[in-house]
Amino acid sequence: MAATGTTASGESAFYVTTPIYYVNDAPHLGHAYTTVAGDVLTRWHRQRGEKVWYLTGTDEHGQKIMRTAEANGVSPQEWCDKLVEEAWKPLWEHLQIANDDFIRTTEPRHTDRVQEFVQDLYDKGEIYKGEYEGPYCIGCEEYKSPGDLLEGDLCPIHKRPVEWLREENYFFRLSAYGPRLLEHYEQNPDFIQPASARNEIVQLVKQGLQDLSISRSTFDWGVPVPWDSKHVIYVWIDALLNYATAVGYGSDQAKFDATWPANVHLVGKDILRFHAAIWPAMLMANNLPLPRKIFANGWLLVSGEKMSKSNLTGISPRDLTSHFGVDAYRYYFLRAIPFGQDGSFSWEDFSARYTSELANDFGNLASRVAAMIGKYFDGVLPEAKDAGPAEQAIADGLAAAVAQADTLIGDNLDFAGGIGAIFDFVKQVNGYLSEQAPWKVAKDDSAEGQARLATILYTAAESLRAIAVLLHPIMPTTAEKLWASLGAEPHLGALADQRIADLATWGRLPAGAQVVKGEILFPRLENA
Ligand code: MSP
Repeated sequence: MAATGTTASGESAFYVTTPIYYVNDAPHLGHAYTTVAGDVLTRWHRQRGEKVWYLTGTDEHGQKIMRTAEANGVSPQEWCDKLVEEAWKPLWEHLQIANDDFIRTTEPRHTDRVQEFVQDLYDKGEIYKGEYEGPYCIGCEEYKSPGDLLEGDLCPIHKRPVEWLREENYFFRLSAYGPRLLEHYEQNPDFIQPASARNEIVQLVKQGLQDLSISRSTFDWGVPVPWDSKHVIYVWIDALLNYATAVGYGSDQAKFDATWPANVHLVGKDILRFHAAIWPAMLMANNLPLPRKIFANGWLLVSGEKMSKSNLTGISPRDLTSHFGVDAYRYYFLRAIPFGQDGSFSWEDFSARYTSELANDFGNLASRVAAMIGKYFDGVLPEAKDAGPAEQAIADGLAAAVAQADTLIGDNLDFAGGIGAIFDFVKQVNGYLSEQAPWKVAKDDSAEGQARLATILYTAAESLRAIAVLLHPIMPTTAEKLWASLGAEPHLGALADQRIADLATWGRLPAGAQVVKGEILFPRLENA
């Protein structure tokens, strides 16, 4: 299990963050991808019984936002307020994102601390005044190296022309931190994941870092540099600090100590350099502990390119949830694309997995078992009187699935692998039912026959008890429905209170539980 930050009082939190998203437009599938992943990780750790803090938010300064607001004839603040309240927060609520906080970089709790942080660096001599000239991509809010540009001076990510900028800036002595960063990567092999992301950053830092321009003077939509109000702080420096300001940096030391350092910063691979090189160097410069892990997810692709505002599929997250439901949406992307790799969304693949994995393998299992307990035992869970090797194999299968899913999802962020382990167990239980054929055994009225029937149905229901808990972080509403259908709550308590560590203990759901056939978990899809 990953270590968590601890305080003198022993209070600690497993702290997970998403990038804070630019609010120049409404969230799309790509933003939701990272946010759902963070939510599943968060809920998994809660299910372990850990204290967790999950942060997301919005990045509201910089030229990109300023120009979008201008183009829409409103002030940048008005633009941000509208988008946050009408588009971003409602989508996260709709997708059942259980974040503990939502930070906006225009909030004083953030801007005041950003100024203090940068002032501290200035006082320490880490910041100096200089001049910078180079190609700048507004989409990335980043100076590019001329060698990185595509033909026609296009940004390689946005495929749009860069702007040539020349201005007097303040610079952070980033170049001085190369050796310390490399030493940190060396001593903490899990710091940047997956391995491809780690290798990319190690190469980059080995090539040598340049000092970083951390202020801009050609526009004013940003946090003013405290000692020179003609400049605003570069939007990325402002944005990265959200991870610290949101948990009390400079304002609530007890909270900061109990939460910082972050256990996992989830980021898209496009913004890895900022998180794995610049952010740690900023923290080193102010003597703060470094985050424990930076995990770079791959891109959702559209026609082989990163899905972005300009090349959207035309499909919004809500288009998919209205067809497939929120839980299937949460499931699909994490199940279909190995976390850390790029992947394409396909309506056909989503439909196929919905039908075969969710409706047939899982949904049918849950409804068949409840229906048979209803039919043969009046909905009262019977006792397993004659468990033998076939039942032992199921108990063993469950123990293996729990152990694998816990390591893969909770520690390795291998969501596809972990969900795969849970669904292998679902398949195993289906196979067990096909072999044991309780519908045939039911025809045998002898005491042995009835004992056998009871044992088979108990075994299936007890397996579903554990499956409900394992799927709760991924598909919260469906798991709750299953929990209710098993009549588990009066005996075992709330689903959220079940612990991963107890899951493989066989026989927790007691005979006598009232099993009811609830609504169909995954109804047949309407034609797309
Ligand atoms: N504001 C910065 C981040 C600052 S963090 C201190 C930013 N914002 S963004 O709105 O462009 O969102 C970037 C993040 O959204 C990516 O890092 C990634 O997590 C997610 N994604 C955006 N498009 C994506 C895909 N097409 N595929 C997967 N994730 C994507 O950069």
